[in-house]
Amino acid sequence: MSHSEPVKVEVGLGDRAYDILIGPGLLSGSGTKIAGRLPGTRAAIVTDENVAAAHLETLQAGLEKGGIEAAVITLPAGEKTKSFAHLEEVVDGVLAAKLERRDVVVALGGGVIGDLAGFAAGIVRRGMNFVQVPTSLLAQVDSSVGGKTGINSARGKNLVGVFNQPKLVLADTGVLDTLPIREFRAGYAELAKYGLIDRPGFFAWLEENWQKVFAGGPERTEAIAEACRAKADVVARDEFETGDRALLNLGHTFGHALEAATNYDGARLVHGEGVAIGMALAHRFSARLNLASPDDAERVEAHLRAVGLPWRMADIAGQLPDPETLLGFITQDKKVSRGALTFILTRGVGHAFIAKDVPPSEVLSFLKASHPG
Ligand SMILES: NC(=O)c1ccc[n+]([C@@H]2O[C@H](COP(=O)([O-])OP(=O)(O)OC[C@H]3O[C@@H](n4cnc5c(N)ncnc54)[C@H](O)[C@@H]3O)[C@@H](O)[C@H]2O)c1
Ligand SMILES: [Zn+2]
Repeated sequence: MSHSEPVKVEVGLGDRAYDILIGPGLLSGSGTKIAGRLPGTRAAIVTDENVAAAHLETLQAGLEKGGIEAAVITLPAGEKTKSFAHLEEVVDGVLAAKLERRDVVVALGGGVIGDLAGFAAGIVRRGMNFVQVPTSLLAQVDSSVGGKTGINSARGKNLVGVFNQPKLVLADTGVLDTLPIREFRAGYAELAKYGLIDRPGFFAWLEENWQKVFAGGPERTEAIAEACRAKADVVARDEFETGDRALLNLGHTFGHALEAATNYDGARLVHGEGVAIGMALAHRFSARLNLASPDDAERVEAHLRAVGLPWRMADIAGQLPDPETLLGFITQDKKVSRGALTFILTRGVGHAFIAKDVPPSEVLSFLKASHPG
């Protein structure tokens, strides 16, 4: 544990602005950080079984140091927890602890817990205070920032929820040491995404420093902080995703199709791995359309390969559906407007843009060329 000051990134949303604090040892300092912003508060911690086993005691002790008493709601780990049944469990737990609107729901976990607890905080007593303590790399660089919260419906992922910004995000970089390596890599794909969207210098820095990011230390903190700056910028420009925020979907059109094509079977493909392959495909596809150079595509593929991420469809275990079926997943995922698809394409590393006029026939011939067969 380090006692150096955490890095602070501000999300500039006017009267709903908040800080993201990033650094090692933040769980232990959580009580004073929260009490400084929300004096006299009581708390309910929402977490999952894996995270509770590794980090709950540290968080509870940290909250106590700031005089914050906390009830605990522990749920099973995994995507299935983002359900109406578990939402009800969280709402009931918060009410049973007799928390009031000015009290705080603390989400201690990955994106599943953050999305669910943030949604619950948004609806209990018409909206309670809410603090994110993200414990996966994906949650630290993506889901805990920006205020999208919610659960899944039987009809699809993330279909029920609200925009609800937290009051504070505490990204303790030390807790990532207990994260399984495959989950760390998957989160790393989303981290590298910000470099590929509009921060070419950051991508080049990651190519040089990724091993130190994986190992921990100041490079890990700096990489997460830069990712949070990137996301905070986009969110401050376009909180409700009417424009630019769509750039964050780089790699996600192909990625979601591959997740659907593997029946969301995490043993074959987790979300960040789908995004890694999707980002590589988006660069290859852009090169094929003569928008970017093949060297850029090669560079992205080489980096994903270096960190141990999958980067092509052939890296997915088992059979994939044929290219026509994959295209079907893409057109299902997207609104097709007058026969054209919206894609995030690129003019090169760090120069992604929203393309609204991609013909499905181009996508299909590209999928045929990239399919392992
Ligand atoms: N709200 C948003 O803007 C947004 C953005 C991206 C993703 N998401 C959502 O995030 C979810 C995925 O998040 P995720 O990848 O964090 O999944 P997750 O919450 O399921 O966490 C992944 C796994 O790691 C475990 N874990 C987490 N932190 C750990 C730690 N420090 N030590 C040991 N184990 C730990 C969890 O128990 C779980 O088994 C999806 O539901 C997705 O829809 C939301
Ligand atoms: Zn994603």
